[in-house]
Amino acid sequence: MTILDTDRLIIRRFKAEDWRDLHEYLSRENVVKYEPYGVLTEKESREEALRRSSDSAFWAVCLKETGKMIGNLYFQEQEPKRFQTWVLGYVFHSDYQGNGYAGEACRRLLKYGYETLEIRRVIAMCNPENQRSWKLLERLNFRREGHSLQTGYFKYDKDGNPIWHDTFLYALLRTEWGE
Ligand SMILES: CC(C)(COP(=O)(O)OP(=O)(O)OC[C@H]1O[C@@H](n2cnc3c(N)ncnc32)[C@H](O)[C@@H]1OP(=O)(O)O)[C@@H](O)C(=O)NCCC(=O)NCCS
Repeated sequence: MTILDTDRLIIRRFKAEDWRDLHEYLSRENVVKYEPYGVLTEKESREEALRRSSDSAFWAVCLKETGKMIGNLYFQEQEPKRFQTWVLGYVFHSDYQGNGYAGEACRRLLKYGYETLEIRRVIAMCNPENQRSWKLLERLNFRREGHSLQTGYFKYDKDGNPIWHDTFLYALLRTEWGE
């Protein structure tokens, strides 16, 4: 089983026991604000950690010093596989944001992707209002490829109408990758 590490982090597959740390951040409104789901209960966090433990797209990001899981990455191959394109996603505990942990973890996973998995293109999408997300992508050297209008909705307003959101599309080719 692949385990990646950086100066401060261990990036590994999920375990069912990660549910407590997962619940600590997925139960926060400010963390799930731009996610397609709402805050998770303890029960949902147990189920989600278990589900993720057998889903190779999810990576747990843990502090080397304490072992605490402070966030997760999502890295999923797209169909058709011959296009060698993967999607990157990330969610970090709000208490641990602003320390460069997400950037450090993404850089390591991208290195693994480009150098070991021989990926050609990585894409990432985010809501333009989620500045922390697209700033992270730009620090990682991703290019903004598009701004699509009213692509979907995850939430409703007080009258029950969908709150449509836009989407920024970002991409990074292996040929653009430089550590
Ligand atoms: C998107 C998200 C992962 C970005 O996290 P982040 O902590 O801002 O990103 P980084 O790891 O790159 O950290 C950069 C910040 O750490 C600071 N920093 C401190 N020490 C640092 C170090 N050693 N190295 C690098 N940066 C460091 C930087 O100055 C920067 O701060 P700033 O934002 O105030 O300028 C995070 O906001 C998040 O999880 N949001 C909720 C979930 C979400 O919306 N996910 C995306 C859905 S599309």
